[in-house]
Amino acid sequence: MKTRITELFGIQHPIIQGGMHYVGFAELAAAVSNAGGLGIITGLTQKTPELLAREIARCHEMTDKPFGVNLTFLPTFTMPPYPEYIQAIIEGGIKAVETAGRNPQPYMPLLKAAGIKVIHKCTSVRHSLKAEAIGCDAVSVDGFECGGHPGEDDIPNFILLPRAAEELKIPFVASGGMADGRSLVAALALGAEGINMGTRFMATREAPIHENVKKAIVEASELDTRLIMRSLRNTERVLMNEGVKRVLEIEHAKGDALTIDDIHDQVAGIYPKVMTDGDMQAGAWSCGMVAGLIHDVPSCKELIDRIMAEADGLIHRRLAGFYQS
Ligand SMILES: Cc1cc2nc3c(=O)[nH]c(=O)nc-3n(C[C@H](O)[C@H](O)[C@H](O)COP(=O)(O)O)c2cc1C
Repeated sequence: MKTRITELFGIQHPIIQGGMHYVGFAELAAAVSNAGGLGIITGLTQKTPELLAREIARCHEMTDKPFGVNLTFLPTFTMPPYPEYIQAIIEGGIKAVETAGRNPQPYMPLLKAAGIKVIHKCTSVRHSLKAEAIGCDAVSVDGFECGGHPGEDDIPNFILLPRAAEELKIPFVASGGMADGRSLVAALALGAEGINMGTRFMATREAPIHENVKKAIVEASELDTRLIMRSLRNTERVLMNEGVKRVLEIEHAKGDALTIDDIHDQVAGIYPKVMTDGDMQAGAWSCGMVAGLIHDVPSCKELIDRIMAEADGLIHRRLAGFYQS
């Protein structure tokens, strides 16, 4: 399949693996890229720019296909040295960067001068238009369904994607709730030129995370995620567990008086406990509603091949069939 997204990133299939904290290591990025998609290393999971440079080098050893790096500009407890991270990205020969969170404008000149294609993750049409205006090459339009930070507008992809298509000139991928060939075909019909998946790629053989996490995703239904940190305007969609239950209780008790310090123990430093140690009750970790559509743990190649075959069948048989007498 050829779209402006496959052309932009030099990939075979219009499928991107979104940056994921403590999940997007070289093993997963390389597996996705080797399967014809665009794998992404999560920049800030590497604690220093030197460690990111090493992770990029490790990924180059595992694939000769293009892969990218995610740079997230979220409110964090300490400000990372972004220019040094970008230097590691440039010196590592990376040609695709997925930015997310705050406006990446201050870093655009550095990235563009190095010939890097920037895809910015946006949860609204207005942010997507801003990304286009500041020179981003593409947008990842992240609907309310998504795992991670869906923003504060609560617009699901059935509305958000066609609205983005009405306004944007640059290409965009559909992000949030994407799992299979049905998702891809629907996303294409709504105006996207590819898909970005997070939660679905966690439940793959190559995702370098604890088996308990993959099992929890396979066992979860579409009813099992919750939104936390709403009153802090830093909403996150997470999988329900004992730690999240505590966050919700504290949020309920404190109301608008909630501060990040009230829930710090349940939301900070949780990822290594969950992803590495497999402690599924440790606290809040991002997970999409799409867990309800995830029933197995295939390899990245099996998953991507299956998505493309299913999309082909849908377009050429199911949809085309509606036109035959
Ligand atoms: C465990 C997890 C961690 C994530 N961490 C990040 C991150 O560090 N930076 C980022 O931009 N997006 C992050 N995301 C969001 C994903 O890149 C992607 O946009 C999202 O998962 C899409 O929704 P889906 O899970 O329904 O596919 C994370 C998602 C998950 C599930």
